[in-house]
Amino acid sequence: MQKASVTGVPRVASPDDTIARLSGRLLIDGELRKPIEGRTFALHNPATGKFLCEVAAADSKDVDVAVRSAALAQRSWGNLPARERGKRLIAASQVLATHAEEIAKLIALESGKALRTECRAEAANVADILQFFGGLASELKGETVPLKPGLLSYTQVEPVGVVAAVLPWNVPLMLMAVKIAPALIAGNTVVVKSAEETPLTVVWAGELLGQHLPKGVLNVISGDGPVCGAALVRHPEIAKITFTGSVETGRLIYRAAADKIVPVTLELGGKSPMIVMPDADLDKAVDGAVVGMRFTRQGQSCTAASRMLVHRGLHDAFVSKLKAKVDQLVIGDPLDERTDIGAIISKAQLEKILGYIELGRSDPAATAHECGQLPADEELRAGNFVRPVIFTGLANSSRLAREEIFGPVTCVMSFDTLEEAIDLANDSTFGLAASVWTRDLTSALRAVNALEAGYIQVNQAQVAGPNISYGGFKQSGLGKELTLESMLEHFTRRKSVVINFE
Ligand code: NAI
Ligand code: MG
Repeated sequence: MQKASVTGVPRVASPDDTIARLSGRLLIDGELRKPIEGRTFALHNPATGKFLCEVAAADSKDVDVAVRSAALAQRSWGNLPARERGKRLIAASQVLATHAEEIAKLIALESGKALRTECRAEAANVADILQFFGGLASELKGETVPLKPGLLSYTQVEPVGVVAAVLPWNVPLMLMAVKIAPALIAGNTVVVKSAEETPLTVVWAGELLGQHLPKGVLNVISGDGPVCGAALVRHPEIAKITFTGSVETGRLIYRAAADKIVPVTLELGGKSPMIVMPDADLDKAVDGAVVGMRFTRQGQSCTAASRMLVHRGLHDAFVSKLKAKVDQLVIGDPLDERTDIGAIISKAQLEKILGYIELGRSDPAATAHECGQLPADEELRAGNFVRPVIFTGLANSSRLAREEIFGPVTCVMSFDTLEEAIDLANDSTFGLAASVWTRDLTSALRAVNALEAGYIQVNQAQVAGPNISYGGFKQSGLGKELTLESMLEHFTRRKSVVINFE
């Protein structure tokens, strides 16, 4: 049974009710609607393999309706005082906060991530990010330029129009917030395209946020990337594209943007190094490696510390301590409070990860240290579970050390000097994140200056959050997220005005 809340949107009693209500629906113009052609695809629980629901498969016709709704809504949304937009987004974030636990459970159900270690934090981060950008609304300012007496010259920042936000599945709701918050505050309207694997929380969040947003300001569509994602980024009324996902799809989106000459933000893959210097606090570095590799997210993170470069003198102790820590992590039912590590998002992603593990095993120089135990539970037999693997003995030139695996697989390699560690770290097509573990200020700062990565941490390897300028170098992407500057740079256009009053 659903009870109506004061705002009219049903207060949801269980995830099943929410799933049934959202099944097969897109959020367009403030309404949950079926796609025009009525097409759907099946969604399965990654931990059990069981059918969850049918999901709406939008095509170019639905994209067109969503973009036109957003374009119409943008006229009045863009004219609202910026602080008013900020207040509405903050009020909307509070709706999400009241539903945080239900949202966390739904993330767990559709993504396979563990509720206690991952999903609750994600639900909380979403509200935090929206509030952060809500508070920045008054910073949408231009500047005056003293050209000469008799001339008043100034700049003003304006919204760009309708933004397309294409999301991945690893932290779907957090990345939705990272993209929509600066876009909306800057006066744009948005069409979000959720990943095939995680459509439910995204469309539900859109509906909840819609309690404080005019209709059409935030639209959410789901469907096949090459069908509705491609139609969205190519739509003539899309003025800006923001994307997180694979390098391959990033390239396609960049090409589509080139045809239309519209700006893009791309947050792509990584192969992030973690350098452990001989003077590092070993226990802290090992704990940091567990966090840095995002083992509790099954390693499905673009900033995962998937190349651990450890000084030769610490290498063996580091590996045995790390294995002992990862061995203790419980792999199991995402909804169980005892579970640390949940399931891999999909069969396809599981196959990809298993392929890399096989490849690593076939390397005669390498050793695979498998950690933890697969769940014994009958219910989870068809789930996408894999034991974390720490590889030693691999060369930095091996495919496992070069390609993004996006699973709980890391390589530990050794080095003798800081210069060698930096060369190894930089020998990658990626440049997203890096961390350095040392108590020596000189080593830390040398590494910070020499590392080719957009996000560098010393003695920690945490995820980025509000007010940390986040984005990669090299093939890890283009542009920054999570800051005031990123909002101004990527979600506004700057107009110069010169007034002659002589
Ligand atoms: P993907 O990049 O293909 O998918 C991400 C999003 O792009 C989804 O919403 C998808 O529907 C959409 N998309 C796909 N093709 C499109 C197209 N032609 N036009 C417009 N949108 C399109 O990533 P996928 O296939 O889910 O995962 C493959 C690999 O990508 C993973 O194994 C991992 O290595 C990497 N990845 C990296 C992420 C990151 O955070 N940087 C997140 C997800 C995946
Ligand atoms: Mg893909």
